[in-house]
Amino acid sequence: MASPPSLYLLPSLVVLLSLTQTIFAQSYSNITRGTTLTAAGSTSSWLSPSGDFAFGFFPIKADASLFLLAIWFVSTTPKTIVWSAKRDPVASGSTLQLTSDGRLSLEDHAGTEVWSAGQSNASSAALLDSGNLVLADASSILWRSFDFPMDTLLPGQVLTLGSSLRSQLTDTDFSDGRFVLVAENDGNLDLRPLALPSGNQYDSYWSTDTAGSGSQLVYNESGSIYFALTNDTLLNITSAATYSTQNFYQRARLDPDGVFRLYIYPKKGTASGSWRETWNVVAKVPADICQAINSDNGGSGACGFNSYCSSVGDQTKVNCKCPPQYSFLDPQHDYKGCTQDFLLNCKQYDPNQYTLSPMDNVDWPFSDYEHYTGVNEAQCREYCLEDCFCAVAIYYNRNECWKKKLPMSNGKMGSYVDRRALIKVAKDNASLALPPGSGPS
Ligand SMILES: *[C@@H]1O[C@H](CO)[C@@H](O)[C@H](O)[C@H]1NC(C)=O
Ligand SMILES: *[C@@H]1O[C@H](CO)[C@@H](O)[C@H](O)[C@H]1NC(C)=O
Ligand SMILES: *[C@@H]1O[C@H](CO)[C@@H](O)[C@H](O)[C@H]1NC(C)=O
Ligand SMILES: *[C@@H]1O[C@H](CO)[C@@H](O)[C@H](O)[C@H]1NC(C)=O
Ligand SMILES: *[C@@H]1O[C@H](CO)[C@@H](O)[C@H](O)[C@H]1NC(C)=O
Ligand SMILES: *[C@@H]1O[C@H](CO)[C@@H](O)[C@H](O)[C@H]1NC(C)=O
Repeated sequence: MASPPSLYLLPSLVVLLSLTQTIFAQSYSNITRGTTLTAAGSTSSWLSPSGDFAFGFFPIKADASLFLLAIWFVSTTPKTIVWSAKRDPVASGSTLQLTSDGRLSLEDHAGTEVWSAGQSNASSAALLDSGNLVLADASSILWRSFDFPMDTLLPGQVLTLGSSLRSQLTDTDFSDGRFVLVAENDGNLDLRPLALPSGNQYDSYWSTDTAGSGSQLVYNESGSIYFALTNDTLLNITSAATYSTQNFYQRARLDPDGVFRLYIYPKKGTASGSWRETWNVVAKVPADICQAINSDNGGSGACGFNSYCSSVGDQTKVNCKCPPQYSFLDPQHDYKGCTQDFLLNCKQYDPNQYTLSPMDNVDWPFSDYEHYTGVNEAQCREYCLEDCFCAVAIYYNRNECWKKKLPMSNGKMGSYVDRRALIKVAKDNASLALPPGSGPS
């Protein structure tokens, strides 16, 4: 980089030096070549010196048949994963070894290597008190887990240009999810939805807009998360700096719902005031993902097709809902969207069998195929009812009407949505009910 070394580099340099000294001056690096962990009934792991973090096989099924090779907070309830070597789990009987040639190697229960870290030559491994797993030789650190983040950043960690966080699919499914936080090579820091399964990225729903001047995302030891620019400016992203790391565990995670949240957890035996012993959200971006995701360049929006994202409530988790007489295709995976509970066959369409159910402050902004002006609400209803293709009419400002077709995207509900949705539903839903077995179970 042509620009002179800037102030924000200093803290990470200091961290690096003290880390190196710590490893080599003290007895942290006690994991030596040949040391093995085996995924088995009880938790098999190495602890950081403080005991706050563990690295090893984390059981993800109650019967301990599947494990993630992971790093997690030991003392929180529940124990919380902050990193995993790979996103798919391995079976009981899998092993991890610091090999005789100095690599970390994960072999599945059949003895096939499924993951490895470090080129070679590490003489030891250590899980540091920061939650960083490192491989080192006598003079330097050869590999660190902090350089390969999954969906979580910890204090002391940075995201350099060209790297990213990827959410996991759901709270219980660790596979690749629907969102990324990318430190783009052009200098922007962006949040983007992805198309599954290919992973191509859609328009950003939040950005620092710093193309040409962005440098790296820093989560510093005080709990501040900022995006450093090449001219020494630090853009404040979120901050938990008022919560001492003495008294609180903390982490920042791109959650499965696409929100980047900063969490704190009061440590046991500390005066933690009114904080509950759970992960408390103290900051997040974007402020309201229901409003933020709003692009017609593809994708369903924050929630699945035909559903809507509710901005009502505390939003510790994005709230996706189905319109009346629609239900989730798969209630365990509500991002897959909602489908009608009644039959609508355009070859035998009888408008008299349907009615329009009004919902205020709801809209699907992009799925319209017809637009009327100078109409009243009765006309708007009539136009939609008579048209088999019309699934929803949107009525606005006492004179505008849009017809919407399925599947609808980017659905949202909130006081900022200044219009009324008229949802086509079956009048007698029993007679138009789907035959048994064809609907959602
Ligand atoms: C490393 O040291 C810690 C703290 O003394 C201990 O709990 C852990 O079991 C040791 N790990 C190994 C692999 O020896
Ligand atoms: C490992 O160490 C050997 C002997 O010092 C050296 O020849 C080799 O290049 C090293 N490999 C890597 C990947 O650093
Ligand atoms: C972290 O960043 C904040 C805000 O820029 C700053 O006030 C604080 O001193 C920094 N802490 C460390 C340990 O670098
Ligand atoms: C640094 O760059 C940003 C973005 O280009 C700009 O807004 C800011 O004013 C600059 N700050 C300084 C001190 O030059
Ligand atoms: C940084 O942002 C957080 C919320 O995102 C805010 O609480 C904090 O006061 C900000 N800090 C500074 C120094 O602007
Ligand atoms: C029909 O509508 C009633 C009242 O809205 C609802 O309770 C019932 O579940 C619906 N039945 C079907 C098959 O959708």
